[in-house]
Amino acid sequence: MIHSRIAGTGSYLPEKILTNADLEKLVDTSDEWIQTRTGIRQRHVAAEGQTTCDLAEQAALAALEAAGVKASEIDLLIVGTTTPDLIFPSTACLLQHRLGANGCAAFDVNAACSGFVYALSVADKFIRSGAARKALVVGAETLTRMLDWSDRATCVLFGDGAGAVVLTADTEPGIISTHLHADGAYKELLWNPVGVSVGFKPEEKNAGVRVLMAGSDVFKVAVKTLDAVVEETLAANDLSKSAIDWLIPHQANLRIIQATAKRLDMPMDRVIVTVDKHGNTSSGSVPLALDYAVRSGKVQRGQLLLIEAFGGGFTWGSALVRY
Ligand code: ACO
Repeated sequence: MIHSRIAGTGSYLPEKILTNADLEKLVDTSDEWIQTRTGIRQRHVAAEGQTTCDLAEQAALAALEAAGVKASEIDLLIVGTTTPDLIFPSTACLLQHRLGANGCAAFDVNAACSGFVYALSVADKFIRSGAARKALVVGAETLTRMLDWSDRATCVLFGDGAGAVVLTADTEPGIISTHLHADGAYKELLWNPVGVSVGFKPEEKNAGVRVLMAGSDVFKVAVKTLDAVVEETLAANDLSKSAIDWLIPHQANLRIIQATAKRLDMPMDRVIVTVDKHGNTSSGSVPLALDYAVRSGKVQRGQLLLIEAFGGGFTWGSALVRY
């Protein structure tokens, strides 16, 4: 039986840091409000001209190096992103050419903040089926480009960044199981309702490109659905809560992360938290947290990881991984 396993991880954050104190100068907010409600202290913001593909490239190079895999060996490249460089070609195609992995299958997955977990699940299934042997899976975003910097309810939450993993075919798992869900009935709670087909709004700032969010409603559904998906993951694998070594959650809000940890009876010292330093980097958040966990020496080979994410759509999902 063929399985996929994580051979290497990488990540990249743009240099510029925007602190809560910096935001106090832009909108009517406070460091105290942001930290208490979200756990966020700072976020990174891409430089002018620096694109999602630029961030993805740095994360991908680091993951390839960690895995000891050459770009030319990659036979599948998937980028989870909601903020692609262009409408088309996909960011995956742009990245493929930059890395010199030309010829392999390459495409983007848009599942908002669940983009990386969706992309990881797709790549795992390609490898399990024998259709690919070495996959590069990236989550990359320049979400701050979508923000309305005069809207205090959203501009304090997000940041830019990218993370990547190289998956290789193996006789042992690896990715043990993945669980994906979506419910489009919730589309209006968290969205950016302009686009090529619907049209843009030239009379509005940034042509209407901005994040609209009913924060406290999103919060409630996020906690409920994440509870359900972690229970589903444990049940599908006949696992007890205590079997999980590390929870690697989507980094949107520390209170959502704490709620999931509580559901799993996990102390916070077994939960990877980067939201304080990165803010919500959407598809970038989970692979950034994973790479931090690996490079800081917290996550060790052989340990059992529970990865989860929740985002616009709504979309949500999990992955159980033997690292
Ligand atoms: N600074 C100061 N006050 C603020 C700010 C701010 N930045 N933003 C909102 N407020 C005010 C509101 O106006 C409101 O004031 P009022 O009571 O006078 O009306 C008050 O603070 C409370 O607002 P709520 O929205 O009820 O605050 P809540 O405790 O729910 O926290 C938050 C808001 C942090 C957004 C929270 O609801 C949350 O994290 N929700 C989930 C968001 C999320 O996870 N989204 C991402 C999924 S990711 C993706 O797919 C893009």
